Amino acid sequence: MNIGVLSLFPGAFESFLSTSIVARALAKQALEIELVDIRDYAVGKHRQVDDYPYGGFAGMVGMVQPLWDALEATLAGANAPVIYFTPQGRPLKQSILKSYSRMERVILICGHYKEIDQRFRRLAVSDEISIGDYVLSGGELAAQVFIDGVARLLPQVLGDIESAHTDSFHQPTLGFPCYTRPDEFLQQKVPAALLSGNHAQIQAWAEEQARQITKSRRPDLLTPKKLKTNQENA
Ligand code: 6GU
Repeated sequence: MNIGVLSLFPGAFESFLSTSIVARALAKQALEIELVDIRDYAVGKHRQVDDYPYGGFAGMVGMVQPLWDALEATLAGANAPVIYFTPQGRPLKQSILKSYSRMERVILICGHYKEIDQRFRRLAVSDEISIGDYVLSGGELAAQVFIDGVARLLPQVLGDIESAHTDSFHQPTLGFPCYTRPDEFLQQKVPAALLSGNHAQIQAWAEEQARQITKSRRPDLLTPKKLKTNQENA
């Protein structure tokens, strides 16, 4: 998989790309990341990438031309989905990561300032994604969340692929509590079921724990989705 990242702060990706699973995916060439500095495509002696919004609102807006030229140069005639990270986007879900992890190429757009010019979104963006109901200063952290989540789904990246399949959200419930040695710490014991050596008992314990945690913390994940009318979906 090849991911092109357009950002005004490509340096923000350095330590992220050289750490842990993502570094491993890059080393195994399961993943390729192309960092593109949007400012390289700015014109004029000030290399301007943002400007005041029409209408006199607060904040700055990312200019359409540097974004357009950066995208055109990155795609070089090829076609790929273009994702823009914004709090206005659809909430990121494991299912979204899964479907993008099957693609050969994806372009990520990191905005900064207030927003980017709506015309770039209309002309070039195929998907808009938010990573939660809070405001960040830019899309770089959201893009890193996306890249990490996708990288660990690529074939041959996780050593123990089983650990991806038992992750929270891969299944419809949250994960269960985990323990490792020692079997007692400050009088806190590892649950007896886990020491039983009985696979069926261990599996039943894990499923029940996951169900309880999901019920108390994320009951919304357990309620079956009701069919919505078109008006409700609009
Ligand atoms: Cl994707 N971008 C920004 N700037 N803020 C966010 C976000 C994205 N998702 C939640 N907050």
